[in-house]
Amino acid sequence: MQNTPTTLNAKPRLRKPNSEDGAAIWSLVKDCAPLDENSMYCNLIQCDHFRDTCVLVEMNGDVVGWVSAYVLPDDTETLFVWQVAVSEKARGQGLGGRMLNALLDREMCADVTKVQTTITKDNEASWALFTRFADREGASIESEPHFKRDDHFDGEHATEHMVTIKLSEQTKRAA
Ligand SMILES: CC(C)(COP(=O)(O)OP(=O)(O)OC[C@H]1O[C@@H](n2cnc3c(N)ncnc32)[C@H](O)[C@@H]1OP(=O)(O)O)[C@@H](O)C(=O)NCCC(=O)NCCS
Repeated sequence: MQNTPTTLNAKPRLRKPNSEDGAAIWSLVKDCAPLDENSMYCNLIQCDHFRDTCVLVEMNGDVVGWVSAYVLPDDTETLFVWQVAVSEKARGQGLGGRMLNALLDREMCADVTKVQTTITKDNEASWALFTRFADREGASIESEPHFKRDDHFDGEHATEHMVTIKLSEQTKRAA
């Protein structure tokens, strides 16, 4: 985990994405193994249609952080976090956690009582990120196998565990 001149002393700017950000986000995700790469078009649609529930971080004009998420179409109280990516040069500064908190502070998330994501067993950084987030929120965290290697991925991808973080009454953001 190394900071470079790009990130040293740079002040991160968290904001909603625009459709012009799709290509930079595609490039960031590509560099953030073990994340699945999506098509550039997919990132563009996230930036355009789902901008209210996505967060981008810029430092000195570089895109160094990204969260894609959406409110479930059939359950408006659940925010599903699709991917979290922080450029290697900007890791270890709390940016992943800050993006999750910034997302929950948005008006679009005022009714959210539950945060969900899926994580493979071996992704330590991701488990740490969401466990710490739940700790900070004073929220419970549960997980169980959900999208399974053989049933859903034809043996080509490790089982994704559904992580559910239930926000406590005090920490719900509804104003
Ligand atoms: C996961 C990721 C987004 C974390 O970004 P980050 O900005 O460095 O995370 P934070 O600084 O907010 O760290 C949050 C917590 O996780 C811990 N953590 C971060 N990386 C870790 C790692 N590799 N192993 C163990 N713990 C880790 C931090 O110590 C911190 O805990 P703390 O508050 O007790 O200190 C980043 O490592 C990344 O992009 N990884 C590759 C892509 C990925 O796996 N994304 C997650 C799947 S959706």
